[in-house]
Amino acid sequence: MSLPGERAKGGGRLSIGGSDIAVGAYYAAPVSSIRLEPFVQDHLGGFREMLNDPDVLRFTRMPDPAPDGFDRSWFAAYEQGKADGTRMNFAIVDGPARAFLGIAVAPSIDTAAGEAELGYVVAPWARRRGVATEALRQLTTWAFTDLAMVRLQLLIDVSNEPSKRVAERCGYRLEGVLRSLYFKQDLRSDTESWSRLAGDS
Ligand SMILES: CC(C)(COP(=O)(O)OP(=O)(O)OC[C@H]1O[C@@H](n2cnc3c(N)ncnc32)[C@H](O)[C@@H]1OP(=O)(O)O)[C@@H](O)C(=O)NCCC(=O)NCCS
Repeated sequence: MSLPGERAKGGGRLSIGGSDIAVGAYYAAPVSSIRLEPFVQDHLGGFREMLNDPDVLRFTRMPDPAPDGFDRSWFAAYEQGKADGTRMNFAIVDGPARAFLGIAVAPSIDTAAGEAELGYVVAPWARRRGVATEALRQLTTWAFTDLAMVRLQLLIDVSNEPSKRVAERCGYRLEGVLRSLYFKQDLRSDTESWSRLAGDS
Protein backbone atom coordinates (compact mmCIF):
# COMPACT_ATOMS: atom_id res chain seq x y z
CA MET A 1 0.00 0.00 0.00
CA SER A 2 1.30 3.46 -0.91
CA LEU A 3 1.89 6.09 1.72
CA PRO A 4 1.09 9.77 1.15
CA GLY A 5 3.64 11.28 -1.17
CA GLU A 6 4.93 7.92 -2.29
CA ARG A 7 4.65 7.19 -6.01
CA ALA A 8 2.45 4.24 -6.82
CA LYS A 9 3.35 1.64 -9.39
CA GLY A 10 2.31 2.80 -12.83
CA GLY A 11 2.65 6.51 -12.09
CA GLY A 12 3.55 8.67 -15.04
CA ARG A 13 3.20 12.08 -16.60
CA LEU A 14 1.01 13.53 -19.32
CA SER A 15 1.15 16.76 -21.24
CA ILE A 16 -2.16 18.58 -20.85
CA GLY A 17 -2.65 21.94 -22.50
CA GLY A 18 1.09 22.48 -22.55
CA SER A 19 1.46 21.52 -18.87
CA ASP A 20 3.27 18.41 -17.71
CA ILE A 21 0.92 16.72 -15.25
CA ALA A 22 1.21 13.75 -12.94
CA VAL A 23 -1.15 10.79 -13.29
CA GLY A 24 -1.21 7.42 -11.64
CA ALA A 25 0.81 8.54 -8.63
CA TYR A 26 -0.50 8.57 -5.07
CA TYR A 27 -2.01 12.02 -4.67
CA ALA A 28 -1.52 13.89 -1.42
CA ALA A 29 -2.03 17.60 -2.11
CA PRO A 30 -4.64 19.59 -0.14
CA VAL A 31 -8.20 19.09 -1.33
CA SER A 32 -9.06 22.77 -0.86
CA SER A 33 -7.23 23.63 -4.07
CA ILE A 34 -8.96 21.23 -6.43
CA ARG A 35 -11.11 22.61 -9.22
CA LEU A 36 -13.20 21.50 -12.17
CA GLU A 37 -12.17 22.43 -15.69
CA PRO A 38 -14.08 21.56 -18.85
CA PHE A 39 -12.89 18.17 -20.09
CA VAL A 40 -10.75 18.49 -23.21
CA GLN A 41 -9.07 15.91 -25.40
CA ASP A 42 -5.80 16.29 -23.50
CA HIS A 43 -7.43 14.81 -20.37
CA LEU A 44 -8.10 11.52 -22.16
CA GLY A 45 -4.78 10.00 -21.02
CA GLY A 46 -5.80 10.34 -17.37
CA PHE A 47 -9.33 9.15 -18.18
CA ARG A 48 -7.97 6.02 -19.90
CA GLU A 49 -5.88 5.19 -16.84
CA MET A 50 -9.05 4.93 -14.73
CA LEU A 51 -10.87 2.53 -17.06
CA ASN A 52 -9.26 -0.64 -15.69
CA ASP A 53 -10.07 0.11 -12.07
CA PRO A 54 -12.44 -2.54 -10.64
CA ASP A 55 -14.59 0.03 -8.80
CA VAL A 56 -14.97 2.14 -11.94
CA LEU A 57 -16.03 -0.94 -13.88
CA ARG A 58 -18.40 -2.07 -11.13
CA PHE A 59 -20.04 1.20 -10.14
CA THR A 60 -20.15 3.35 -13.27
CA ARG A 61 -21.70 2.91 -16.69
CA MET A 62 -18.27 2.53 -18.27
CA PRO A 63 -18.41 -0.76 -20.24
CA ASP A 64 -16.58 -3.77 -18.78
CA PRO A 65 -14.22 -4.32 -20.43
CA ALA A 66 -13.91 -0.97 -22.18
CA PRO A 67 -13.59 -1.73 -25.90
CA ASP A 68 -10.82 -0.18 -27.98
CA GLY A 69 -11.70 3.40 -28.77
CA PHE A 70 -14.22 3.71 -25.92
CA ASP A 71 -12.42 6.78 -24.57
CA ARG A 72 -12.84 8.57 -27.88
CA SER A 73 -16.52 7.64 -28.29
CA TRP A 74 -17.19 8.73 -24.68
CA PHE A 75 -15.48 12.04 -25.42
CA ALA A 76 -17.39 12.50 -28.69
CA ALA A 77 -20.73 11.82 -26.98
CA TYR A 78 -19.98 14.53 -24.40
CA GLU A 79 -18.82 16.95 -27.11
CA GLN A 80 -22.20 16.44 -28.80
CA GLY A 81 -23.93 16.88 -25.44
CA LYS A 82 -22.08 20.13 -24.77
CA ALA A 83 -23.14 21.40 -28.18
CA ASP A 84 -26.83 20.63 -27.67
CA GLY A 85 -26.92 21.34 -23.92
CA THR A 86 -27.80 17.80 -22.83
CA ARG A 87 -24.50 16.75 -21.16
CA MET A 88 -21.37 18.21 -19.62
CA ASN A 89 -18.05 16.73 -18.47
CA PHE A 90 -15.30 18.24 -16.33
CA ALA A 91 -11.85 17.04 -15.33
CA ILE A 92 -11.07 17.29 -11.61
CA VAL A 93 -7.61 18.86 -11.41
CA ASP A 94 -5.30 20.35 -8.83
CA GLY A 95 -2.44 22.79 -8.63
CA PRO A 96 -0.50 24.72 -11.23
CA ALA A 97 0.47 21.40 -12.83
CA ARG A 98 -3.23 20.56 -13.18
CA ALA A 99 -2.80 17.07 -11.79
CA PHE A 100 -5.62 14.89 -13.12
CA LEU A 101 -7.69 13.47 -10.26
CA GLY A 102 -10.85 12.26 -11.99
CA ILE A 103 -14.03 13.41 -13.69
CA ALA A 104 -17.22 15.16 -12.63
CA VAL A 105 -20.08 14.83 -15.10
CA ALA A 106 -23.66 15.68 -15.89
CA PRO A 107 -24.61 12.69 -18.08
CA SER A 108 -28.09 14.07 -18.67
CA ILE A 109 -29.37 17.63 -18.52
CA ASP A 110 -33.01 18.50 -19.21
CA THR A 111 -33.02 22.27 -19.43
CA ALA A 112 -36.77 22.57 -19.96
CA ALA A 113 -37.54 20.49 -16.87
CA GLY A 114 -34.71 22.01 -14.82
CA GLU A 115 -33.38 18.54 -13.99
CA ALA A 116 -29.96 16.94 -14.29
CA GLU A 117 -28.24 13.73 -13.28
CA LEU A 118 -24.72 14.18 -11.89
CA GLY A 119 -21.85 11.73 -11.40
CA TYR A 120 -18.19 11.52 -10.38
CA VAL A 121 -15.19 9.24 -10.60
CA VAL A 122 -11.99 9.80 -8.63
CA ALA A 123 -8.82 8.13 -9.90
CA PRO A 124 -7.58 5.32 -7.63
CA TRP A 125 -4.42 7.29 -6.82
CA ALA A 126 -6.45 10.23 -5.39
CA ARG A 127 -9.14 8.49 -3.31
CA ARG A 128 -10.06 8.86 0.37
CA ARG A 129 -8.82 12.42 0.61
CA GLY A 130 -12.14 14.23 0.11
CA VAL A 131 -11.64 14.82 -3.62
CA ALA A 132 -15.06 13.46 -4.65
CA THR A 133 -16.79 15.46 -1.92
CA GLU A 134 -15.17 18.70 -3.06
CA ALA A 135 -15.81 17.89 -6.75
CA LEU A 136 -19.51 17.15 -6.15
CA ARG A 137 -19.83 20.31 -4.06
CA GLN A 138 -18.48 22.36 -6.98
CA LEU A 139 -20.49 20.44 -9.59
CA THR A 140 -23.68 20.99 -7.59
CA THR A 141 -23.01 24.73 -7.31
CA TRP A 142 -22.37 24.88 -11.06
CA ALA A 143 -25.62 23.04 -11.86
CA PHE A 144 -27.74 25.27 -9.63
CA THR A 145 -26.11 28.58 -10.56
CA ASP A 146 -24.89 28.27 -14.16
CA LEU A 147 -27.62 25.89 -15.38
CA ALA A 148 -30.39 27.10 -13.05
CA MET A 149 -31.40 23.51 -12.35
CA VAL A 150 -34.19 22.85 -9.87
CA ARG A 151 -33.56 19.17 -9.17
CA LEU A 152 -30.30 17.21 -9.21
CA GLN A 153 -30.16 13.43 -9.02
CA LEU A 154 -27.45 10.88 -8.21
CA LEU A 155 -27.88 7.15 -8.95
CA ILE A 156 -25.73 5.08 -6.60
CA ASP A 157 -25.41 1.30 -6.25
CA VAL A 158 -26.70 0.18 -2.84
CA SER A 159 -23.28 -1.29 -2.02
CA ASN A 160 -21.24 1.78 -3.00
CA GLU A 161 -20.64 3.08 0.54
CA PRO A 162 -18.01 5.74 -0.36
CA SER A 163 -20.29 7.29 -2.98
CA LYS A 164 -23.23 7.37 -0.56
CA ARG A 165 -21.02 9.18 1.98
CA VAL A 166 -20.10 11.73 -0.67
CA ALA A 167 -23.76 12.31 -1.59
CA GLU A 168 -24.79 12.75 2.02
CA ARG A 169 -21.98 15.18 2.79
CA CYS A 170 -22.95 17.31 -0.22
CA GLY A 171 -26.52 17.72 1.01
CA TYR A 172 -28.25 15.10 -1.15
CA ARG A 173 -31.14 13.15 0.33
CA LEU A 174 -31.92 9.48 -0.18
CA GLU A 175 -35.25 9.09 -1.99
CA GLY A 176 -35.46 5.33 -2.27
CA VAL A 177 -34.20 2.25 -4.05
CA LEU A 178 -34.82 1.48 -7.70
CA ARG A 179 -34.87 -2.30 -7.68
CA SER A 180 -32.95 -4.30 -10.27
CA LEU A 181 -32.33 -1.25 -12.42
CA TYR A 182 -30.78 -1.99 -15.80
CA PHE A 183 -27.26 -0.67 -15.49
CA LYS A 184 -25.11 -1.92 -18.34
CA GLN A 185 -24.46 -5.02 -20.41
CA ASP A 186 -25.41 -8.01 -18.21
CA LEU A 187 -25.59 -6.03 -14.99
CA ARG A 188 -28.77 -5.09 -13.18
CA SER A 189 -28.48 -3.73 -9.68
CA ASP A 190 -30.44 -2.21 -6.82
CA THR A 191 -29.72 1.47 -7.16
CA GLU A 192 -30.36 4.27 -4.72
CA SER A 193 -31.78 7.54 -5.97
CA TRP A 194 -30.45 10.60 -4.15
CA SER A 195 -31.58 14.13 -4.94
CA ARG A 196 -30.94 17.71 -4.00
CA LEU A 197 -33.39 20.50 -4.82
CA ALA A 198 -32.52 24.14 -5.37
CA GLY A 199 -34.60 25.01 -2.31
CA ASP A 200 -32.95 22.48 0.02
CA SER A 201 -30.96 23.96 2.88
C1 LIG B 1 -16.84 6.83 -4.86
C2 LIG B 1 -15.60 7.70 -5.11
C3 LIG B 1 -15.94 8.74 -6.16
C4 LIG B 1 -15.20 8.37 -3.79
O1 LIG B 1 -14.10 9.22 -4.07
P1 LIG B 1 -13.18 9.80 -2.88
O2 LIG B 1 -12.47 11.00 -3.42
O3 LIG B 1 -12.39 8.70 -2.32
O4 LIG B 1 -14.30 10.26 -1.86
P2 LIG B 1 -14.11 11.16 -0.55
O5 LIG B 1 -12.71 11.01 -0.06
O6 LIG B 1 -14.60 12.53 -0.84
O7 LIG B 1 -15.14 10.51 0.48
C5 LIG B 1 -15.26 9.09 0.57
C6 LIG B 1 -15.97 8.77 1.86
O8 LIG B 1 -16.29 7.39 1.86
C7 LIG B 1 -15.62 6.76 2.93
N1 LIG B 1 -15.21 5.45 2.49
C8 LIG B 1 -14.21 5.14 1.66
N2 LIG B 1 -14.17 3.82 1.46
C9 LIG B 1 -15.18 3.29 2.19
C10 LIG B 1 -15.68 1.99 2.40
N3 LIG B 1 -15.11 0.94 1.79
N4 LIG B 1 -16.76 1.83 3.21
C11 LIG B 1 -17.34 2.89 3.79
N5 LIG B 1 -16.94 4.17 3.63
C12 LIG B 1 -15.86 4.35 2.83
C13 LIG B 1 -14.45 7.65 3.27
O9 LIG B 1 -14.01 7.42 4.58
C14 LIG B 1 -15.09 9.00 3.06
O10 LIG B 1 -15.94 9.35 4.13
P3 LIG B 1 -15.41 10.20 5.40
O11 LIG B 1 -14.66 11.38 4.84
O12 LIG B 1 -16.66 10.57 6.12
O13 LIG B 1 -14.52 9.31 6.15
C15 LIG B 1 -14.40 6.84 -5.61
O14 LIG B 1 -14.21 5.77 -4.70
C16 LIG B 1 -14.61 6.27 -7.00
O15 LIG B 1 -14.34 6.94 -8.00
N6 LIG B 1 -15.14 5.04 -7.09
C17 LIG B 1 -15.36 4.38 -8.38
C18 LIG B 1 -16.39 5.12 -9.23
C19 LIG B 1 -17.66 5.41 -8.48
O16 LIG B 1 -18.14 4.60 -7.68
N7 LIG B 1 -18.25 6.57 -8.76
C20 LIG B 1 -19.50 6.96 -8.16
C21 LIG B 1 -20.64 6.35 -8.93
S1 LIG B 1 -22.21 6.74 -8.14
